[in-house]
Amino acid sequence: MRRVGFLACPGTLPGSSDRRADAHEHDLQVAALREGFAPAGLELVEIDWRAPESAFDGIELVLLGTVWDYQDHAERFFATIEGLAARGIAVCNPPELVRWNIEKTYLRDLEQAGAPVIPTLWLDDPNGADIAAAFDYFGCDRLVVKRQVGAGAEGQMSFDRTAPPSPDWRYGHRAMVQPFLPAIVEEGEYSFVFFDGEFSHCIRKTAAPGEYRIQSLYGGKEEAIDPPAEDIASAQAVVRAIPGDTPLYARIDMIRQDGALAVMEAELIEPYLYPEQATGFGARMAEAILKRI
Ligand SMILES: Nc1ncnc2c1ncn2[C@@H]1O[C@H](COP(=O)(O)OP(=O)(O)OP(=O)(O)O)[C@@H](O)[C@H]1O
Ligand SMILES: [Mg+2]
Repeated sequence: MRRVGFLACPGTLPGSSDRRADAHEHDLQVAALREGFAPAGLELVEIDWRAPESAFDGIELVLLGTVWDYQDHAERFFATIEGLAARGIAVCNPPELVRWNIEKTYLRDLEQAGAPVIPTLWLDDPNGADIAAAFDYFGCDRLVVKRQVGAGAEGQMSFDRTAPPSPDWRYGHRAMVQPFLPAIVEEGEYSFVFFDGEFSHCIRKTAAPGEYRIQSLYGGKEEAIDPPAEDIASAQAVVRAIPGDTPLYARIDMIRQDGALAVMEAELIEPYLYPEQATGFGARMAEAILKRI
């Protein structure tokens, strides 16, 4: 059996004493991969990304898996995956793509490459006047303010024109300001999953009543859907706009604006890939892996 590493962290590894509330997603992903890997002659090995180098002996490729704590240790994480790549282990997705994807400013690159992106103002540390000006800039009555580096909607705020922040308010982080897109509550957000640039499956995520964040932490729900061809094509265009070689896996999160889908995020590091909503999840991944080892 050829060995593939699935990087994880103490919060997601089975048997660890402080598993996260969402660690079952790790188990679902690992189980779906193992099912498809065995017939392809691949063995999946779960490895803490902080494990000593010897833990990677005999591993031909690593998936970034569920490294859901790397954000606070980004430089050590980069050094680790760059070290693995230097040993000749295929790292998926590759370190240079991870570096590109960690700051949401990558959305500007996608836009320049022709992908449809939510209109965004990039502001270093906005104050109350910047937010007031943003309402007029976008011609909208509600805004979303997000961190340029962040996940899980941490630090995210939403302002209504009738209740803007006070003039001496400061966000305190590098920010991205977007018009609030009402489709999030009317229709939801889509996640399109691609293996090797080929569409695999699509999920629609909807928010709980009175909420606009679709994360399960805020009561969001998800369902598998069969998207129309033009929506798949919009997501595919985003994958094509990603720099470098075609990524092994990609999750493109999109929302409708003026009738067409626009990118919310391109998740290329450690996204949950919704294995239970896919058919042949592990087999598709195995096929893409065998092309790289
Ligand atoms: N412009 C917007 N209009 C409406 N809703 C939005 C907008 N931007 C973000 N949201 C809502 O907030 C959620 C979190 O935003 P986003 O995905 O950009 O941030 P994140 O912190 O990277 O979160 P995660 O990593 O968990 O996906 C979205 O899934 C969506 O529900
Ligand atoms: Mg998101």
